[in-house]
Amino acid sequence: MDFFQYRDGQLYAEDVNLDTLADQLGTPLYVYSRKTFEDHYGRIAEAFAPLDPTLCYSIKSCGNINILKLLVARGAGMDVVSGGELRRAQAAGADMSKIVYAGVGKTDAEITAALEAGIGYFNIESEAEFENIARLAEQTGHTTHAALRVNPDVDPKTHTYTTTGKKESKFGVDLERARRFFESYGKNPHCRLTAVHIHIGSPVNDPQPYVDAINKVLALIDDLRAAGYTVDTLDIGGGFGAHYESDEAPPAVTYAERIVPLLKDRDLKVILEPGRSIAANAGVLLSRVQYIKTGGDKKFVIVDAGMNTLLRPSLYQAFHFLWPTKVDAKHVPEQRLKEMPNADLEPADVVGPICETGDFFAQHRALPPVKRGDLIAVFAAGAYGMVMASNYNAMPRPAEVLVDGDNATIIRHRETYEDLLAHELEPQSV
Ligand code: LLP
Repeated sequence: MDFFQYRDGQLYAEDVNLDTLADQLGTPLYVYSRKTFEDHYGRIAEAFAPLDPTLCYSIKSCGNINILKLLVARGAGMDVVSGGELRRAQAAGADMSKIVYAGVGKTDAEITAALEAGIGYFNIESEAEFENIARLAEQTGHTTHAALRVNPDVDPKTHTYTTTGKKESKFGVDLERARRFFESYGKNPHCRLTAVHIHIGSPVNDPQPYVDAINKVLALIDDLRAAGYTVDTLDIGGGFGAHYESDEAPPAVTYAERIVPLLKDRDLKVILEPGRSIAANAGVLLSRVQYIKTGGDKKFVIVDAGMNTLLRPSLYQAFHFLWPTKVDAKHVPEQRLKEMPNADLEPADVVGPICETGDFFAQHRALPPVKRGDLIAVFAAGAYGMVMASNYNAMPRPAEVLVDGDNATIIRHRETYEDLLAHELEPQSV
């Protein structure tokens, strides 16, 4: 699952003691395990190897360029959704032909930058967007490739905010419209529409919605080919699960066992866009207990990280296992569960310092006794953690550290108050 393990009651990231690290670098702190990143990437690559796919790591899940570089070194392409993410991919030295660019609101400046970079595919979300990209390609003398994002109208049974492949989603076009889309644009010489893209949601802890979605788009591709259009590539998006609880998500091979047979010998180049399944379990967030407070019958554990540091619990009511980094023998967590079997746990709300009632990491969670100064690790925080952090309440964003064996490297410095003020110090009239 990952390389964050307790040894004699002390949590380690690979071979680094996390209390020592937090004493040295302060909290809140994001800590990543290189081995976990590489292990998860490797498992997906191996499971899908019979398709010889391009793995386009989804930068939005965890975009630090030092992490991108690790994946680029293993042959990864990148899934980007903005000019900023494209810039990150470039800074990480990614092969531009392995970049896919999705997103419903690409601006002219972003499109032009991507055309100049020579990216692999624009993942197209609407007719208006296609026309704009084709126009800009013609104007700037580029020929580019596009994948039409299709909504296969399957229900991935995940949070409504992260369900994307249903008919009434803002992303992509439905199957009927897809046919008309190829009739209108399938022969455009500047933006060559030769691929289909799907992304059904995230996280999807069951291969079946993928099977349903892929079968639907394969039928579409057969029709399009029969009508004389070239469709040589299918991008099946991201969305594979991660372990927020122990063993919650199927392993990559379980998805692959169902998906590979559908796509093998179809004469299609396959693209995958995994983010969470690579990054989530590769990171923890360390936070220091500031105060213990009771309110009515409730106990609050107030920590120095909050919704500004890790937004998922507040935004999606997402479950993150959290636990003290130093525990006695009977509290070493053998598994990470919503309800832990250990004796003498006390229910508490673990909350942050932000002036919002919605600022919490856990509500009514049974935890070992903790006191001021203790360190708490929030697990599976590698994906959609730091990338969604904000400066709300003028909180500097935390540092990020990458652990490799017994080495720890700061890969992003903790922001300072000066950083927060920097863009405001020289007002300029316009
Ligand atoms: N491809 C497309 C087109 C996507 O929209 C996404 C995620 C991915 C790939 C990567 O999905 P993954 O493999 O990471 O599941 N902030 C939310 C998740 C939003 C996902 C957005 N799209 C969360 O914290 O759960």
